[in-house]
Amino acid sequence: MISGRRVLLAVTGGVAAYKSALLTRLLVEDGAEVRVILTESAHHFVGPQTFAALTGSAPYTKLFDSDSVSPHTELARWAEVIVVAPATAASLSKMANGLSNDLFSATVLAYTGPVLIAPAMHTEMWEHPATARNMAILEEFGYETVGPESGALAGGDEGVGRVAEPEQIHEALSDLLGTRPDLGRLLVTAGGTREPIDPVRYLGNRSTGKMGHAIANEAAQRGYDVTLVTTSNLHADPAVNLVEVETAEQMLNAVEQVDMDVAIMAAAVADFRPAKKSAHKLSRSEGLDSVELVPNPDILESVVARDKRPLVVGFAAETGDVERAVQKAKRKDVDLLVYNDVTEPGSGFGTDTNRVTFVNRDGSVDPMPLTSKDEVAAQLLDRIAALRSLDS
Ligand code: C5P
Repeated sequence: MISGRRVLLAVTGGVAAYKSALLTRLLVEDGAEVRVILTESAHHFVGPQTFAALTGSAPYTKLFDSDSVSPHTELARWAEVIVVAPATAASLSKMANGLSNDLFSATVLAYTGPVLIAPAMHTEMWEHPATARNMAILEEFGYETVGPESGALAGGDEGVGRVAEPEQIHEALSDLLGTRPDLGRLLVTAGGTREPIDPVRYLGNRSTGKMGHAIANEAAQRGYDVTLVTTSNLHADPAVNLVEVETAEQMLNAVEQVDMDVAIMAAAVADFRPAKKSAHKLSRSEGLDSVELVPNPDILESVVARDKRPLVVGFAAETGDVERAVQKAKRKDVDLLVYNDVTEPGSGFGTDTNRVTFVNRDGSVDPMPLTSKDEVAAQLLDRIAALRSLDS
């Protein structure tokens, strides 16, 4: 299962590097998020532009002079798996000996997850005791190998040392990643609803959907089957089932179609909508004294009222004290409420950070420090896992 997985492909300097372009295309087509490291010698065989076009972002090439202060540790933390293809004799040697004098070797040294290597070199180099020793060390590290095959080599030679075909590497990678744990079905609602007045204007709110999307993406990475019903066009992990909506009624209709074990209601749903939507754009001369409003359905309530009630997490963006959130958690009958004060700096709409307080079912509260929305998403999913294990 490669879809949605974060694959770091290291292309080292051998003629077989051109096959890594095909491998990249296979992985991208399969829904993987692919980042590429090109070593300096790989540049003699393939160009960064090829990989930029295939993945949508420029390959990583330098340990220094890049935007990041620590590109190797950043990449190592990002990757779920590293594939070294082609892996030259020199790159095997670097990995086996813990060298870290370029971006590729430093990233591998900083990395703790699974590594798949596809060696490619001349037969003499492959059969040299130094390479055999390096391979034995890499095997001891737990690194997996695919190939090399026997066949035509660079310069018209024949023998063992030919890199495995892209399809073979792709298959070995699928086996290595295995299937993710099946954590069940999880719904996330995200973004602020937009309630139309006419084809141009709407009643809306300041929610951007950042928090909800961060939760959906993290949940997909952990192995949930995620449906994200959202008004936002922010990035969603390719493994997420994305349903785009605008209004509260559309959001409710979409949610009603979803079977779920966990519901995380992070959307800012407008409490009211205009009673009628004008079919044409209202002009100034027509005038509009007032907009009559009618209440919107409560989506969270509909989920709580299901016969097969999922575990339900509500959100409360408030401008008051936490006691209001505690009351809201009770009233809404949720298993967990995520409260944040949107007037606090760095917390709330459109920011990358959030300071939240978790309100538990028994009314107890756990205030958290200001942190990234990604981290809040991770903490929330940890709490959900704990609640679900208490349940079972
Ligand atoms: O807007 P309010 O603070 O009451 O929202 C509390 C929770 O209820 C949130 O999780 C929100 O997503 C959900 N909600 C909903 N449908 C509504 C109003 C709120 O699902 N119409």
